[in-house]
Amino acid sequence: MPDIEQLTRDARSDLEAAATVAELEAAKVAHLGRSAPLVLLLRDIRELPPEDRGRVGKAGNVARKELEALAASRHDALAAVELDDRLRADAIDVTLPARSMPRGTLHPLTQTRRLLEDIFLGMGYDVVDAPEVESEWYGFTALNTPVGHPARNPSDTFYVAGHDADAGANDDALILRTQTSTAQLRAMQLRKPPLYVVHPGRVYRRDDIDATHSDMFHQMEALAIDEGLTLAHLKGTIESFLHRLFGEELDVRLRTHFFPFTEPSVEADVQCFSCRGTGDPSAEDAASGAFDRCRVCRGEGWIEIMGAGMVDPNVLGVVDGYDPERYSGFAFGIGIDRVAMLRHGFPDLRMLFQNDLRFVRQFAGRP
Ligand code: PHE
Repeated sequence: MPDIEQLTRDARSDLEAAATVAELEAAKVAHLGRSAPLVLLLRDIRELPPEDRGRVGKAGNVARKELEALAASRHDALAAVELDDRLRADAIDVTLPARSMPRGTLHPLTQTRRLLEDIFLGMGYDVVDAPEVESEWYGFTALNTPVGHPARNPSDTFYVAGHDADAGANDDALILRTQTSTAQLRAMQLRKPPLYVVHPGRVYRRDDIDATHSDMFHQMEALAIDEGLTLAHLKGTIESFLHRLFGEELDVRLRTHFFPFTEPSVEADVQCFSCRGTGDPSAEDAASGAFDRCRVCRGEGWIEIMGAGMVDPNVLGVVDGYDPERYSGFAFGIGIDRVAMLRHGFPDLRMLFQNDLRFVRQFAGRP
């Protein structure tokens, strides 16, 4: 017959030695579990000679109660210690400085685009969107650009699909648009006149890439269509725009030019904001001895800034509701990258697209 006192001593010492709740659970299973010797003894008590049953049963039950109480109190103690440890390990040190959240800055191009948008919003224009992948129809045909025009050539324009070399034109062919003027037709189709909209966006040309040319750049198109608009309105609008952008006192001049979709067409120049039209180098540049003329306008006194013109009646006639007998309009397109270069005086257009944070961060917080 198992020695109850010995079993109790062993169990007591195991329960007391358990250093963790898990160890205690293991000791409980060993000494108080279904196949523990003490438990088996109590279960099989009937198999003992009758005269032993009472004594053994009583002693066994006393032992079991004692061990259960011991296990319960050890459990409380160990659980408390473990909770304490966990709380200490999980503690948040509120005195630690917070991890810093670096703040981004707007890209100089975004800043310039928003500035241009703001100026036009202030004049009552809406900002509209238009696709970058366009059909040849929106890109050229609807813009009064004849078949055989060099811009339709795949050496000038990126064709995505459908270029027809034999016919020289395919209205359904897909191109990466070469100018934001494609937005003119898009806007006219979506809205009735009077129409006053600007559209900033990317354009693509198969250009040789150098400091002032990139095969992807940005333009902003302005289009106004109303009754009675004349070249004087065009000039007045360009003037107020350029005055807001570069300075109120600068002269603006229009030179005759050609675009298929405007008639007459002009190019607009603004007097150089750096030399004020004299062509002379800045005092600093002159003192350095490295420049004998204005660096911004290369001594011209003028900065060529945009193409413009009165919307060709052939373009108006493309869209229902824009009767060229009743409506007239003007349009212009300005290079956003070029404006950013002029405003900030950086020398190479490609810097805008290299994503060098040292360059971009210089414009943090600028308007
Ligand atoms: N789309 C022309 C260009 O890219 C600019 C322009 C826009 C000219 C609107 C006239 C009218 O050069």
